[in-house]
Amino acid sequence: MSPGTTTLPRFSTRPAQGASCQGIVFYVLMTLMAFVYVGMDTHMQWSRRQVCTSSATTSEEAALANLSLIMADHTAVEKEHLRVSGQIEAAVAAARADAVAKLDASLKETVSVNVAASEPSPAPMDEATLLARMPPCAAQARTLDPTKRAKAFFIMYMGHSASTAVISEMGQHTDIFVDPRGPEPVDHHEYEANTTLALEYTRAFFDRGIKEGKIPGFKLRPTHVLRQPEAWRALVKEYDVRLIWNFRANTIKQASGEYRYRYLQDTSVIEGLRDGETLESKCANGGCAFKIANMDFFHTVLSDLLNNDNLITRAVAALQADGCVLSLPYEEYLYSRNNSMAQVYRFLGVPFEDHAPNRQKATADSLCDAVANVEDLCDAFYGCLRYRWMFDDWNNNCKCVGLRKDSRFGENNPYCSAPVKSRA
Ligand SMILES: *[C@@H]1O[C@H](CO)[C@@H](O)[C@H](O)[C@H]1NC(C)=O
Ligand SMILES: *[C@@H]1O[C@H](CO)[C@@H](O)[C@H](O)[C@H]1NC(C)=O
Ligand SMILES: *[C@@H]1O[C@H](CO)[C@@H](O)[C@H](O)[C@H]1NC(C)=O
Repeated sequence: MSPGTTTLPRFSTRPAQGASCQGIVFYVLMTLMAFVYVGMDTHMQWSRRQVCTSSATTSEEAALANLSLIMADHTAVEKEHLRVSGQIEAAVAAARADAVAKLDASLKETVSVNVAASEPSPAPMDEATLLARMPPCAAQARTLDPTKRAKAFFIMYMGHSASTAVISEMGQHTDIFVDPRGPEPVDHHEYEANTTLALEYTRAFFDRGIKEGKIPGFKLRPTHVLRQPEAWRALVKEYDVRLIWNFRANTIKQASGEYRYRYLQDTSVIEGLRDGETLESKCANGGCAFKIANMDFFHTVLSDLLNNDNLITRAVAALQADGCVLSLPYEEYLYSRNNSMAQVYRFLGVPFEDHAPNRQKATADSLCDAVANVEDLCDAFYGCLRYRWMFDDWNNNCKCVGLRKDSRFGENNPYCSAPVKSRA
C-alpha cells in the first residue's frame, strides 16, 4: 500500500520496531510539514514516529489515531506559540533596554565646546567659603556622609536662565537621576494642564530614582506649585526635597535675549546654542547684534520677566522647604560655572564631578555686543534706579554713556514703574 490511497496510515507514538514500513514518501511529506512549524520542538513525536501501513485498520481506529495526531500537533503548535511569544517578549524587552541605554548615553554624551572655556574662570572656591554658602539642611556637607545626602531635588525655574545647562551637567553625575524624557517632564504635554497627573508622575519618578540608589530630580516651573501649593508642599515634605532656586538677576540682559526670540523669532535663544555651534560661528554670519526698535515691546517683555521672577519666588516660598533652598543665579553660573556646580553638588551631599554642559549661551553677555542700539536702551532705562546697575557692566567694559541731553525720558519715565502683575 502506498500513501495517497484511501487507506489511512497508522501512527503509533511508540516506534514500531521491525514493522515493515512502506510509507517513506508519506514520512518525507510529514517531515516537510513538520518544518512548516518553524522551530518546533525536536523532541516532538514526529521524529520518533514511524509511519507504517502494514496492519489492517478500521476507520474508527484510523480516526482515533488521527485524533491523537491532531492533538499532538495542537500541543506542539501551542508550545511553539508560547516559545515564540516568549522570544518576542524578550526581544521587545531587550530593544527597550537598548533604547533606554542609548538615551542615557546620549544624555551623558559630552560636547565639543565648553562654556567655561571662553569665559573668565575664577579660582575654585575654598572649602570654608563653600560650607558657608550651604543652608542648614545640608549640614552633612562637611563630611559628605552618604546616609545624609539629599533624597530628591527640584530646580525651580522659569526659563532662559541656564537651567537646561545646569541639569545637563547634573544628569552626567554618578549619583544623580534625571529624566531621560527631558529636563522638565511635568511642564509640557498632557502634564502641563493636569497638576494631579504631574504630582502622580513626580512621585513615581522619585520612587524610581530612589530605588536605583540615586537622587532624582527635575526642573519645575512655578505653575503647578501655585495651582496646588498644599499638594506640592506635602510632596516636598514626604520626599525631603531640596530646592535649587534658579533665576536671572539682570533682567535687562535677559529681556534683550527674550526680545530677540519673541520679536525676531530666533529660537536658539531659548535653550542656548546647540552642540558644536559657537557664539563666534553664529556672529560670523551677522546673527549677533540686533536692534531693539520697539521699546514698548521691550518694556512688555521686561515686565513679563519681572513677573516670572516674582512667580518663582512665590512658588519657592509656598513650598516651605524649611530654608532648604540653594540659590543659583544665572550670572553666577555664567561667570563661575565650576563654583556654581560645586555648590549644587555640596548642597545635595554628593562629591564634586566636572561635566561639560550641553547648552551654551546664545546671546553675547555684553549688551554692547548683543544690542546694536544700546544707547536707546540706556536712554529708556538707565534713569530707573531698579535697572541702573544692570547697565553698569564693568566685567564686559560696557556702560551707559550717561543721560542724554535730548532724552525722551525725564523724571516721569513710564518705563521705570514696571507694573508687576502676579498671575500664575
Ligand atoms: C484525518 O485527518 C485529516 C487531516 O486533518 C482529515 O482530512 C481526515 O478526514 C481525517 N480522517 C479521519 C478518519 O478522521
Ligand atoms: C488628570 O489626571 C488624573 C490622574 O491621572 C486623571 O484621573 C484625570 O482624569 C486627569 N484630568 C484631566 C482633565 O485630564
Ligand atoms: C572645579 O571645582 C572643584 C571643586 O571646587 C575643584 O576641585 C577643581 O579644581 C575646579 N576646577 C577648575 C578648573 O577650576
